[in-house]
Amino acid sequence: DSGATYDYIVVGGGTSGLVVANRLSELKDINVLVIEAGGSAYSNPNVTDTAGYGKAFGTEIDWAYQTTDQEYAEGNRQTVRAGKALGGTSLINGMVYLRAQTAQIDAWEAIGNKGWNWKSLFPYYKKGEGFQVPTDYPWLEGSGVAYDPAYHGYDGPLKVGWSEDQLKDGLAQKMNSTYQNLSPEVPYNKDPNGGQMIGYSLYPKTVDSKLNIREDAARAYYYPYKSRSNLHVWLNTNANKLTWKDGEDATADGVEVTLTNGTTTVVKASREVILAAGALKSPLLLELSGVGNPDVLSKYEIETKVNLPTVGENLQDQMNNGLAYDSKTSYSKSADYVAYPSANQLFSNATAIGSDLLAKIPEYAAQVASANGNITKAKDIERFFKIQWDLIFKAHIPVAEILLEPFGTTYDTEYWGSVPFSRGNVHISSADPTAAASIDPKYFMLDFDLHAQIEAARFIRKVFQTEPFASMAGSETSPGLSSVAADANDQGWSSFIKNNFRSNFHPISTTAMMPKEIGGVVDTSLKVYGVSNVRVVDASVMPFQVCGHLQSTVYAVAERAADIIKAQI
Ligand code: FDA
Repeated sequence: DSGATYDYIVVGGGTSGLVVANRLSELKDINVLVIEAGGSAYSNPNVTDTAGYGKAFGTEIDWAYQTTDQEYAEGNRQTVRAGKALGGTSLINGMVYLRAQTAQIDAWEAIGNKGWNWKSLFPYYKKGEGFQVPTDYPWLEGSGVAYDPAYHGYDGPLKVGWSEDQLKDGLAQKMNSTYQNLSPEVPYNKDPNGGQMIGYSLYPKTVDSKLNIREDAARAYYYPYKSRSNLHVWLNTNANKLTWKDGEDATADGVEVTLTNGTTTVVKASREVILAAGALKSPLLLELSGVGNPDVLSKYEIETKVNLPTVGENLQDQMNNGLAYDSKTSYSKSADYVAYPSANQLFSNATAIGSDLLAKIPEYAAQVASANGNITKAKDIERFFKIQWDLIFKAHIPVAEILLEPFGTTYDTEYWGSVPFSRGNVHISSADPTAAASIDPKYFMLDFDLHAQIEAARFIRKVFQTEPFASMAGSETSPGLSSVAADANDQGWSSFIKNNFRSNFHPISTTAMMPKEIGGVVDTSLKVYGVSNVRVVDASVMPFQVCGHLQSTVYAVAERAADIIKAQI
């Protein structure tokens, strides 16, 4: 009923939004409305199938955002996928449940977000998690999966565990030996979800191990609770912008929406509006509401309500490439193998790469600042980059992720540098809320990002030349030695990398949590600067990339956001 008033309106019924809506609606006298642009995907087989990664791509539940022509990637555009239905991107993602290295979350505090560190976030990873102990599932015996009980939560709504698609033919063990035979060795890591991620392991996923179906945000946080009379969801409803209370202060009093039947109306919020529309949407909703860079807003005749020029800046994504090999064995199932090498393990000459990068940081920072018209300041970026450098070369975080996926008679790999330095942006390109945005991640703007991607490719070649794997694999089918020679230099790799990469679908930081004076958009209670009652709780707030995938951290941040909001009621 569009005449109603709710205490809280959550914009976006995705991964983070449903967590916050669930937790707020635990309070019986608090009314919560979730506005979701998509419909229900509860019985969509492209979602539920645990072996169905990619089936939902290009369907009606995929926003399939398009980037601008990528200047530093030979002009190639990218499709950045994101889920459009109740459950958001958790409906279409790869289900990987991997967190971050402790030092990466501690870096959030180092840039001025007091109280946001690994120690304070770790309990929230666990709070959301309903870990399914592998020993309860006899069909996992012999698969090589392992865990440390101290790292997991057992009572949370989100089921985490392993699906039935696990090989039990010793591949896990052979891969482990291969990584250990590398020089330097990549050690075995029993359970990377405790904040120490370096090494080789078999990772858990967001699956319901009993039913062998995907676990997503809606199945975890909404459907079991949908009978709560104070938890409301409007599906197929597009949020257009916030509406403001009369007066000088920026206080939101509702959201303008377009309903399924095409009518546009306003729904009122008496307490707060909480943005959870994803990193490529939440900043746009702020801009459409007059919160952002006046130069951007005035182009589309949007009156500036709050001058906050860094809305939509700091966009960070990773680049995903793959190498493929023939396999001498035919596999009917896949499995979930990951390696997280440190700089010393990945780079052929980490010391030289480190000092070269350190010397380039001022120039990199200047380049990023000048690319966005100095909206973000070179001196601030230089500081962030120095912190990022310390993470790689001093804290020894994983500098890349390597996934190995047996498939039929092929070994596919996927890999990406964990912490690219390039920063881009996302902005509206029209005052029409349904118009496509201008999304410019600036992939490969800085040459370290390309070099890291190339070094990861070289590393994979090394893995496939190391026993016992060397005897199990046939020839490299992509790119193949005739396309990129065994001894190819960076120049020789560049074209393959830039013409065959895709977005790693990990956009973050477009409404970054940071002090305002260094370019932040939200404060440590996730409130938008200059606005009294609007927060952002999705991937947009993460100031730095994490080396695990995003969802576990998105869930954890949202769990914490809910507690922060509740404490202020
Ligand atoms: P999310 O996208 O979940 O939610 C935003 C919601 O807002 C959506 O439901 C959307 O429809 C809605 N919305 C947007 N605009 C709106 C509007 N104007 N009005 C109303 N509603 C609106 N991570 C991981 O940990 N492991 C993995 O294996 C993968 N793999 C992966 C694969 C693919 C293909 C993708 C695209 C992403 C991943 N990820 C991943 C990333 C991870 O899934 C992702 O970062 C989080 O789910 C993002 O959660 P958010 O809450 O930020 O946005």
